[in-house]
Amino acid sequence: MSPGGELRSPASASSERTTPAAAPFDAFRYAHEHRREVVWMSQNTNHLVPPGIVRAAVEEALDERAYEGYPYAPGMPELRELVRNDFGMPDSGYLLTAGGTEALYMLTRALLGPGDEVIASDPSYLIIHRFIELSGARPVPLDIYRGTYRLDPEAVRAAISPKTRMILLIDPLNPLGSGYPREEVRALAEIAHDHHLLLLNDVTYRDFSERPTLAHEFAPEETVTVWSVSKNCGLAGLRLGGLLGPEPLVRAIARFNTNDLGVNLLAQRAAVALLASKSEWFPAVRAATRANFERVRKVAESVPGVRLPVVPSQANMTVLDLSGAGISPERLQQELLLRHGVFLRAGNYLSPRHGGEFIRASFSNPAAEIERFARAFPEACRAVAVPP
Ligand SMILES: Cc1ncc(COP(=O)(O)O)c(C=O)c1O
Repeated sequence: MSPGGELRSPASASSERTTPAAAPFDAFRYAHEHRREVVWMSQNTNHLVPPGIVRAAVEEALDERAYEGYPYAPGMPELRELVRNDFGMPDSGYLLTAGGTEALYMLTRALLGPGDEVIASDPSYLIIHRFIELSGARPVPLDIYRGTYRLDPEAVRAAISPKTRMILLIDPLNPLGSGYPREEVRALAEIAHDHHLLLLNDVTYRDFSERPTLAHEFAPEETVTVWSVSKNCGLAGLRLGGLLGPEPLVRAIARFNTNDLGVNLLAQRAAVALLASKSEWFPAVRAATRANFERVRKVAESVPGVRLPVVPSQANMTVLDLSGAGISPERLQQELLLRHGVFLRAGNYLSPRHGGEFIRASFSNPAAEIERFARAFPEACRAVAVPP
């Protein structure tokens, strides 16, 4: 693709369909078809991890033809050790799953039921809300798109009803990049403890944060911590994650474990190699991610009316608020993808109330890709802005 040139039209991207004109544009299908040309800033994935570590670990497993047998069902003991130590929970209950997503599904399934309520936020990672609903429970999303852009402990306390069963604390928060200060984590954990509520602490982006605090520290009996190697270790495609929590809760969740025969062995081998050496390579990933944030911020703020609600992001993604610029997030997403090969994610996927106001950009990408974004964003904004 020539920079700035159109990759393919949405119609030709879906030309196999019998009624291409009627089919809605599938951005993911299009982006996967053009995977090698597209700058992937749409899923908070990490493209900065040294690939040699993964390659060596997976090649070793392939040489051993380790894939021919089932893995040890509870997971590699080295991996369990590394994860527990990483979280400072050496004796915690532990469940290994095919990505944090599966852990979230299992735990909502196991711990929630019809009539239960879960206090959550809007914006949020809405897949969890969908899992809550699948269990028969109801998310109660508090509007956090103003002020601190985090769950306010007092607002959480006020939202507790006799039906409340759980608080969802995603820290740092996808999509805003808000990181909770220690005192707020403590306050939320104490609320969970005082009201006998479960606390779901999703810490998928923890390693990107300057000063992460685990809720487990303050409410060990109530907290289930969901972790993932998709973002910190850049292993999203290998699908590995899990949860940590008190043994009785983890036993209850494990009743819904679909991985009786274990989870992907190559993923486990790669994760062991990366987690064992994380202190050697992750600081450079974090520093590059932070520098990219500043670059994304500068570019975004150069467009009149575009603003960043949360500065700096404590994760590897940020929200670019377009509401003052007369720009539709969906139109901008499509313009950036089709004309510039830069894939960002429109906010409707992340917020029922405010999704029409923002687009999300993730930025654990090589500097050259961030520069593609820097060239594309102002031009794409000009192309789709509706004059006031
Ligand atoms: C907050 C949050 N939790 C969980 C996940 C799922 O991650 P995984 O790839 O481990 O399934 C994501 C993925 O984007 C996420 O943003």
